Amino acid sequence: MNKRTVYIETYGCQMNVNDSEVVAAILEKEGYDYTEDIAQAQLILLNTCSIREHAENRVFQRLHEIKKLRGEKPDLLIGVIGCMAERLRDQLFDNDLLADIVAGPDSYRQLPELITIAENSKKAINTHLSDTETYADIMPYRVGNNRISSFVSIMRGCNNFCSYCIVPYTRGRERSRDIASILHEVEQLQKSGYKEVTLLGQNVNSYKALEGLGFAELLERVAQTVPDMRVRFTTSHPKDMGDDVLHVMARNTNIGRWVHLPVQSGSSTVLERMNRKYNREYYLNRVEAIRTILPDASITTDILCGFSNESEEEHAETLSLMREVGYDLAYMFKYSERPGTLASKKMPDTIDEETKIRRLNEIIALQNSISKAQNQADIGKTFEVLVEGRSKKNENELKGRNSQNKTVIFPKGDAKVGDFVKVCVTSATSATLIGKIDN
Ligand code: 5AD
Ligand code: SF4
Repeated sequence: MNKRTVYIETYGCQMNVNDSEVVAAILEKEGYDYTEDIAQAQLILLNTCSIREHAENRVFQRLHEIKKLRGEKPDLLIGVIGCMAERLRDQLFDNDLLADIVAGPDSYRQLPELITIAENSKKAINTHLSDTETYADIMPYRVGNNRISSFVSIMRGCNNFCSYCIVPYTRGRERSRDIASILHEVEQLQKSGYKEVTLLGQNVNSYKALEGLGFAELLERVAQTVPDMRVRFTTSHPKDMGDDVLHVMARNTNIGRWVHLPVQSGSSTVLERMNRKYNREYYLNRVEAIRTILPDASITTDILCGFSNESEEEHAETLSLMREVGYDLAYMFKYSERPGTLASKKMPDTIDEETKIRRLNEIIALQNSISKAQNQADIGKTFEVLVEGRSKKNENELKGRNSQNKTVIFPKGDAKVGDFVKVCVTSATSATLIGKIDN
């Protein structure tokens, strides 16, 4: 067989990072070599994201750059895969974009056939969404040089239909992967020397195995299968975040003391328009449960401002909720209307760009000060830190994360990448804890 080389560039969320590894594994089986050097590639795949217009614009720009490579390599094939492939389909074959292959998130097993079609100079497309595909039997080809921490997908798709969100349309219906294949993959990671695994899904709390087991049971089984590894999970939907999961975390100390609980807005009326299926009080009750059952857990969130008709009062409720919860970290966005979503059809994008930017800046400034205070409250505490690599700024320092998923920097001493070390925090910024090894 003619050895070919594939290069994959990944945009968007951690699910996409993991999907690129699934794609790399499928192509490796077909005899492809994986390269991290685009110049070596005969096949370039962009694994794309549609969550905001900005994410798509970056990929369009990149496609324009990449198509110039065709001048030097007439046989080069360019594929667009993932969420944009699903959303835009054959528009990606347009004259100015020139994709050869378009494959949606459930079509990756068909990539070898799609490539053959494209090699015969025909446009190749498959954007069929499946109700069952979980790629359960495919061991992802782990990319990159971090052999410490890895992702394992436990489910795909989403059934929530938040009114602003494109994901249910690009990734299809929710389906859970079988427990045995998840446990097997986690064990394989442990055997390969990995120290941390993050269970991934759009809404992990609604995991449901064929056998009827839910996420709390799965999480406990994973934690007990690999007691020496640190186990994390993301993302949780507040409406499905039950106490059972928090109790499993409390009794299994190898599960990271970290809950990512996207709130989106602090206003019950906005949450209603967003179709989030919870209100401010319910959300605060979940935070209370976390604080009670897991007093040392960090809580992080996603915040979305400037949604349809968001008033100044509603925006102020988001700021007040942020203060009330005291998030350790937040991912903060301004609303970007996505064609095809419920909001794009029923709820006009009324907030002007200037107001969105101003509100976002208020949210970011507030969160920076909260993160800083939260991190400074850690000064004097000692944490177990999983060492992931050298600090970027200083080669005598290492960086890692504690159980709370906070980044910790410290002088390296005798510690090595992959070690769990005790580090006492001596100072902190809004983004990082700084400390020293505590023997
Ligand atoms: N515009 C801006 N941000 C969005 N998100 C989801 N959809 C949109 C949109 N249309 C944000 C949400 C979600 C995160 C992954 O991206 O905050 O939790
Ligand atoms: Fe982007 Fe959402 Fe698709 Fe992930 S699932 S790649 S965040 S659109």
